[in-house]
Amino acid sequence: MKVAIIGTGYVGLPTGVGLAELGHEVICIDRELAKIEKLQAGKVTLYEEGLEDLLRKNFQAGQIKFTTDLSEGVKDAQVVVLAVGTPPHPVTHEADMRYVYEAATELVSCLQNNEYTVIANKSTVPVGTGDMVQNLIAKNNQHINFDVVSLPEFLREGYAVHDFFHPNRIVIGADTERAKQVICDLYKPLLQHNPQCTLLCVNRRSSETIKYASNSFLAAKIQFINEMADFCECVGADINEVAQGMGLDARIGKSFLQPGPGFGGSCFPKDTMALDFMARQNNIDLSLVRATIEGNRKRINSMATRVLDAVAYDVTVPCIGVLGLAFKNGTDDCRVSPAMQILQKILQQNSKCILRVFDPEAIENARMLLQAYPQYNTRVTFCNNAIDVCMGADVLTVLTEWPEFSNLDLQHAAKIMRHLYIVDCRNMLSAEQAIKLGFSYRGIGI
Ligand code: UDX
Repeated sequence: MKVAIIGTGYVGLPTGVGLAELGHEVICIDRELAKIEKLQAGKVTLYEEGLEDLLRKNFQAGQIKFTTDLSEGVKDAQVVVLAVGTPPHPVTHEADMRYVYEAATELVSCLQNNEYTVIANKSTVPVGTGDMVQNLIAKNNQHINFDVVSLPEFLREGYAVHDFFHPNRIVIGADTERAKQVICDLYKPLLQHNPQCTLLCVNRRSSETIKYASNSFLAAKIQFINEMADFCECVGADINEVAQGMGLDARIGKSFLQPGPGFGGSCFPKDTMALDFMARQNNIDLSLVRATIEGNRKRINSMATRVLDAVAYDVTVPCIGVLGLAFKNGTDDCRVSPAMQILQKILQQNSKCILRVFDPEAIENARMLLQAYPQYNTRVTFCNNAIDVCMGADVLTVLTEWPEFSNLDLQHAAKIMRHLYIVDCRNMLSAEQAIKLGFSYRGIGI
């Protein structure tokens, strides 16, 4: 099938490359010429394990193309995937729909020559968006033969290629049989290789709701284990053992029970706030979602306080070594990163402290984000490797769960740090080894 993907971000690009790998003829459209030129040079515009090789292979085979020209891109496409951003409004936190609206408006003048087109909303969009897109196009051009479906993505950043080829479910929100069949045909090659994957066809609004409900539930699960970690610290229990015991119950499940500094990224924070906004719009109180948002926000402050309290009695102008800037391991993405938020809280709470920071992939994105705060320029040093953040540091904190941080040479760190404090917000370092080397070690929930 010929598929057009509008948007080449964390959702659009992996989806386009994945569909090309399945044998479809894919054209990815983005209004940013610089992005398109980079993609045409075989360079990915975001860090995702395995994506660049697949991109190059399919681009050289002519299976995937890139353009800034939307009307050209959607010509004769059986499926047009909307994978544009829906960022939260800075104040109300509702999903900003302008990019979806603009794409739908552009499609009004582009599809009348297509025999039949399925427009698939893959972006996380408020419930009812499919109706909005359908009505907008139908009202402005009666000559287009199309349907709009909800096709939520469940890719995790850092694992997008893996998740695309190993889905456990494909949810289709379609209100016509014909549209449902087109999307089933689109994913048929994938389903043939993944017999364990469930193809779930529901109505469009249910599909839009599944996305928000899934992400909000996962966020709540993380908030829950983080609160249990705080409880464990008070009663002398070990959160790792508690999580292990809980996870053995199939109804709870082992995943997403890893305590940390809070959840971040471009999805959980955005989606929980958007769901809360939609609930309030409908005069319903989703108290669990609200508590998840509020608890996660407070956690950022409490983690920053933990780091500063560790050295408060030894130094008034501490040097803090920070391992991890990305919102999680496996990605270069610093959007709504707990690490970046904690780092900024530390700089605010102690106006004199200095930071030495490192992340295997996210340094450039972190540097760009901090450019908005020039007052921090002289106080943050970006290091080239993990051990370098320990040079002269009074406290070392781990904020992102990169597995390589577990291999940090603590013996070397003990020699080059000024004071020996560790605040491990991801339980990545060995408490036993640290204590043997003379460190004062504080983990999460242990
Ligand atoms: C999430 C959903 O998992 C994915 O299905 C959806 O399509 C997009 O949003 P993502 O945002 O990429 O994916 O990251 P995820 O791996 O879910 O982690 C989100 C945050 O929770 C990260 O900050 C991570 O560090 C944190 N986390 C995750 C925990 O603190 N503990 C855990 O056990 C798991």
